[in-house]
Amino acid sequence: MNTLSPAFKILTWGCQMNEDDSDQMASLLMQMGYRLAGEVAEADVILLNTCSVRAKPEHKVSTKLGELRILKEQNPDMIIGVCGCMAQRQGAAIRRRNPHIDLVIGTAQIERIPELICEVVRSRHPLTALDLPRAKDDAPVTPGRSTQAHYGKLKTFVPVTYGCDNFCSYCVVPYVRGKERSRQLSEIAEEVTGLASQGCKEVTLLGQNVNSYKSPDDGSTGFPELLARLNDIDGLQRIRFTTSHPKDLSDKLIEAMVTLPKVCRHIHLPMQAGDTDVLARMRRGYSVEHYLDLIASLRQAAPEIAISTDILVGFPGETEEQFRNTLQVIEDVRFDMAFMFAYNAIPKTAAAALPDQLTYQEKNARLAKVIELQNRITIEKNTEHIGQVFEVLVEGISPKDPTRICGLTSQNKTVNFEGVLQTIGKLIRVRVTESHLYGFVGETM
Ligand code: SAM
Ligand code: SF4
Ligand code: F3S
Repeated sequence: MNTLSPAFKILTWGCQMNEDDSDQMASLLMQMGYRLAGEVAEADVILLNTCSVRAKPEHKVSTKLGELRILKEQNPDMIIGVCGCMAQRQGAAIRRRNPHIDLVIGTAQIERIPELICEVVRSRHPLTALDLPRAKDDAPVTPGRSTQAHYGKLKTFVPVTYGCDNFCSYCVVPYVRGKERSRQLSEIAEEVTGLASQGCKEVTLLGQNVNSYKSPDDGSTGFPELLARLNDIDGLQRIRFTTSHPKDLSDKLIEAMVTLPKVCRHIHLPMQAGDTDVLARMRRGYSVEHYLDLIASLRQAAPEIAISTDILVGFPGETEEQFRNTLQVIEDVRFDMAFMFAYNAIPKTAAAALPDQLTYQEKNARLAKVIELQNRITIEKNTEHIGQVFEVLVEGISPKDPTRICGLTSQNKTVNFEGVLQTIGKLIRVRVTESHLYGFVGETM
């Protein structure tokens, strides 16, 4: 007789928001008595937490669903669920193409997973749950949270806002994540206090645009006030946040970043394009000049700050000259790091209907150029730090080199160094001895 409890596996694509959602799903399944399976084939419940931001992550999910069909033929009791942004975007159509799927669960329905799984086990009928607050008068409900899957972790994500109201013309997120809603400040503070009391040292606050955070019980409490409240929590050592939208980055937030000691010296500030006309057609709500002013203010307030960005090339109608403007701004700003993407037309988004779509070859040739430029700058900037001493939060054995341990600087750069496991979870001083594209090698002091 098999005495083991039923097992689950969650496969995750996409951004940190999805990683956090997967942790929530894992917590709920553990509360139901499920244990984490080693392999997909051992799982009784498999959830695919998907991303729709570009075509590639959706293709990967389709391939995975093809593989799972074979497993399901061997084990018809296995429950397969598709969750996340692709489930929200494609809805019931995913099931029509993949009749072996039991559940299609939208981004605002995670809390219902236990109830939905029980119903499928009982009835053996597939179910779809896709309600999402998007209309103006929909209630701005935020989900309840469980920190079970975070227990014992040194660092975790904590969402502060859900959804997005910006509707950048290329982006699917507002359609699949619903309208923007902020969590109560007291609820966030309680969660972070609980995490810190369980040994968590670093939180990353999540939102598509954290700068527009507003506590629902008090409209005058914004993101800088939230940072100040979290900075006071005993045991917590570092606070990070992502993503900051340039149109809403205030002087008050820059001041909070430099005066609150636990807030890290790193900002991820997606520029997308270095040409004001392209930015206007992307509906980003700022000009290149405004973006450059923000960079100057950040560097003046905190010269040691690291700045990373997102760059999106090959937007419809982007001319050769406009692309060269982006290269020039990247050269001038000298970002520490960038996530770089070639534009994909995503159905439903405004930009998908624009004329003058670039060819796959044109977009990818531009992407290659921008990656080459930014990689050179990242290496040059990292080299400037050789010999400097950084405070590092030690995280564990280095995945790149098992003879070393590793951690992150306040600037979000990885450092590998020889050290002792007893320092895991502590802030220690490390001198940089070598620099690479990914970060540093160092020595303890
Ligand atoms: N909320 C963040 C912001 O406004 O900067 C960005 C979140 S989005 C999930 C992450 C990045 O994906 C974007 O900054 C953009 O560069 C990229 N992205 C979004 N839509 C895209 C598309 N249709 N094609 C290619 N890249 C895209
Ligand atoms: Fe997408 Fe723009 Fe919202 Fe970011 S701010 S999630 S790019 S619509
Ligand atoms: Fe994130 Fe992808 Fe959804 S980037 S918000 S998982 S579309």
